[in-house]
Amino acid sequence: MNAIASAEAAPSLIASEASQHAPARTSAPQPIITLRNVSKGYGSGVTRNEVLTGINLNLREGEFLAVVGFSGSGKTTLTQLLAGLIRPDEGEIMMDGKPITGPSPQRGLVFQNYSLLPWLTVRGNIALSVDRVFRSWSRAARREHVDKFVEMVGLSHAVHRRPHELSGGMRQRVSLARTLAMKPKVLLLDEPLSALDALTRSVMQDEILKIWEEERQTCLMITNDVDEAILVADRIAPLNPGPRASLGPAFTVGLDRPRDKTELNHNERFKQLRNAVTNYLVAVRQKSRRDQSGGQTASIKRPDIRPADLGGPRRAILNSPV
Ligand SMILES: Nc1ncnc2c1ncn2[C@@H]1O[C@H](COP(=O)(O)OP(=O)(O)OP(=O)(O)O)[C@@H](O)[C@H]1O
Ligand SMILES: [Mg+2]
Repeated sequence: MNAIASAEAAPSLIASEASQHAPARTSAPQPIITLRNVSKGYGSGVTRNEVLTGINLNLREGEFLAVVGFSGSGKTTLTQLLAGLIRPDEGEIMMDGKPITGPSPQRGLVFQNYSLLPWLTVRGNIALSVDRVFRSWSRAARREHVDKFVEMVGLSHAVHRRPHELSGGMRQRVSLARTLAMKPKVLLLDEPLSALDALTRSVMQDEILKIWEEERQTCLMITNDVDEAILVADRIAPLNPGPRASLGPAFTVGLDRPRDKTELNHNERFKQLRNAVTNYLVAVRQKSRRDQSGGQTASIKRPDIRPADLGGPRRAILNSPV
């Protein structure tokens, strides 16, 4: 049985394509963001790169959706479209029934590459957004709000440091705090934890989940880590490999919250989901490679070389103290 077939053999794990696009029933949360037949490419003529094609998605109010996919498939392009930083070539992107025509503080984006202002301190970078979004608040209230989020990401000791004085993980945490502090209606996280070491990553996963469970913001998180996607998300949408990447059918996670990483490792549904999502991704990548090579499997002709018998006794190579 191939991997796609094995994923299909567990239909309860997959929200069918049809159910993703069906009009929301009264009991189901309404979509807050809708993408209809969205395509996006870069460049023109022979250098044209068609990145995304026929993207259809309903992001439901209050849900946590994880998008998983291979490097270069168009995940950042997708988040930038949702943030309104770039416009689709075809199709429409709506929020609350209105077209997205540009960036808005209602949609907070945590960039993959942090994008901090180098001349501002940790506090300054976060305050910049807070001061813009909460103009009507008193100065003291805004400062208190900034400090709350600095503390949340564990950077109180580094509040006066500038980005070049921070590690990659610390910069990513500033970027996360800056976006969370704006209290956006929709949180767009573009691989927010990929630069972190395993331990910090794990702490930040818990932190993101805690914030989401308190606020229940609508959240779309890009990740290349299937376990992370299962830990945080309600649904997982795989982005098929490009060029012309489209979203595959979503997997419904359906695990009780709050979720405990250690317990999940022994959870049967977690294991089934991990296999189903991974198998799906592997299968679509293999298919994409076959399609690109025109159905030919690459064969490498091996040279006919035999190792020479150097004879004689061999001396072992030993390492020695430096
Ligand atoms: N501004 C741009 N101009 C031209 N090509 C671009 C631009 N941004 C992205 N691309 C191309 O679009 C494709 C998708 O890029 P994107 O950054 O969306 O991928 P990704 O899935 O986020 O990758 P990664 O996992 O490595 O972050 C890549 O081939 C990339 O080279
Ligand atoms: Mg990216």
